[in-house]
Amino acid sequence: MSNARDRGTNDQNQQAESRAGHPAQPGLEAPQVSSPHNGVPLLEVRGLSSGYGETQVLWDISLEVSRGEVVALVGANGAGKSTLLAVLSGLLPGWEGSIVFAGRDITHYRAERIVQLGLVQVPQERRLFGGLTVEENLRLGAYTHRAGSANAIAADLESVYSLLPQLRERRRQLAGSLSGGEQQMCAIARGLMARPALLMVDELSLGLAPNIVDDLLAAIDNIHRQEQLSFLLVEQDVQIALERAHHAYVIESGHIVLSGPAADLLKSEKIRMAYLGE
Ligand SMILES: Nc1ncnc2c1ncn2[C@@H]1O[C@H](COP(=O)(O)OP(=O)(O)OP(=O)(O)O)[C@@H](O)[C@H]1O
Ligand SMILES: [Mg+2]
Repeated sequence: MSNARDRGTNDQNQQAESRAGHPAQPGLEAPQVSSPHNGVPLLEVRGLSSGYGETQVLWDISLEVSRGEVVALVGANGAGKSTLLAVLSGLLPGWEGSIVFAGRDITHYRAERIVQLGLVQVPQERRLFGGLTVEENLRLGAYTHRAGSANAIAADLESVYSLLPQLRERRRQLAGSLSGGEQQMCAIARGLMARPALLMVDELSLGLAPNIVDDLLAAIDNIHRQEQLSFLLVEQDVQIALERAHHAYVIESGHIVLSGPAADLLKSEKIRMAYLGE
């Protein structure tokens, strides 16, 4: 969180900068939006394949996310979206291809190191600790920089609560007793506590009522503007994702079959017929 970084020691600020090569820039207006091919690339995936055991799930995936950009990855059930996030997060090995993040080849990095660099996933199952409070869950999100001072973590918490004020009210509530929307917000907040440069949110909308999804997306818009974060929004709900993203990729049966500016994809006949039921 940029404010928290500003209040940290010089050392912490340097770590924050080197983590993503992305200096804290508090108080800026709307971020520079750029397409992946003319912006500064933050994530570059090239020719990635992977799968489980003998079964190949991802085929020759190439994808980019620029700094400050919101990118959507959309596709139906079983298309391979979560599998791709698992490979990007270092939870599943890639078979072929490369992943470069903030200028480093992270293809063979361990999951913890990847989080430390600022590539952070909010998983589809949310994976909150139901028996711990909201705040305890958020503190766990800071585990990769636990060596940082208690003051820095407290400042990050404060920063997260100011971005997601509903969570402050629920800070002492057990995560297991939160509503679905609040749990999703808590999972996003826990991701923010890891100080991401790119936050990959897997199925934000899953199982939530449309008005709750709208609130969460408004929170994401706000975080994107205030914190200059990049987002990879992974969604089955194609409309939701394309409306928010700058650029989008469509994945079918483990292949990227279409990509381009999200606004163009939203208008394309193929998308409208295949995904929007028109
Ligand atoms: N742990 C696993 N072991 C074996 N196969 C798996 C495993 N996880 C996923 N798969 C298979 O990989 C394929 C892609 O699944 P994945 O979960 O990546 O899809 P998805 O696009 O995220 O789908 P959804 O929108 O339903 O979340 C599916 O055929 C699925 O059955
Ligand atoms: Mg999935």
